[in-house]
Amino acid sequence: MGNLGVPPPPKAWVFALSAVPLVLLIAGAFELAGRSLGPNPIRELTHVTGKTALNMVLITLMVSPARALTGDPRWLRIRRMLGLWAFAYAALHLLIYIVLELDLDLRDLGRELAKRPFIWVGAAALVGLLPLAVTSTDRWMRRLGRRWQTLHWLVYPVAVLSVWHFWWQVKADIREPLLYAAVLAVLLAWRVWRRRRTHLARRTTIN
Ligand code: HEM
Repeated sequence: MGNLGVPPPPKAWVFALSAVPLVLLIAGAFELAGRSLGPNPIRELTHVTGKTALNMVLITLMVSPARALTGDPRWLRIRRMLGLWAFAYAALHLLIYIVLELDLDLRDLGRELAKRPFIWVGAAALVGLLPLAVTSTDRWMRRLGRRWQTLHWLVYPVAVLSVWHFWWQVKADIREPLLYAAVLAVLLAWRVWRRRRTHLARRTTIN
């Protein structure tokens, strides 16, 4: 489609940048370099891990358009790493919630699920991310063949559920979740448009 010739950033940079929120959280938790987690440390930990997981899901979805715009297939090489970071932050988000917020009390979890239904939606998003992370290796890619691509379609419901989970727990000001929903809508619309274009092009060549 495009041919801007812009290469992707080196993998080491992508890794280092993705690790920044985690490093800052660790520095805050151990009060290193003058950092702290603020007055409500557990809230801060859930907030940063949740937000970063959501950001990483959306950034992962930006790789295909970047590849199409630049015409450089090397963009796809950073996609797996971004997706795995999304999963890592989401898993950490859950761990912090279960261990620090609920104190591992599963009866509390039952009460929470009844009181705050947005948690079901987050859980569904995480359940969707799990098979994507597990099958992200070259071995699974070879093993699943075409089915790998079909399975990785799961990323779309995962992205919708992640934005929904965020939106649902926001109390008054919906500007931020609205922005996330708009970005996701553009990313999904781009895919629909591209598929239709490819279909049309194929039909024209056959005719
Ligand atoms: C079993 C899985 C999950 C559980 C139990 C869970 C639980 C929670 C809870 C309890 C909060 C509210 C924290 C508060 O009281 O302020 C929250 C917020 C949030 N979660 Fe999750 N979540 C899960 C999965 C996910 C996933 C998969 C994502 C994204 C990919 C995500 C993204 C977010 C975001 C963006 C927020 C809002 C953060 C903020 O601005 O404060 N969560 N989650």
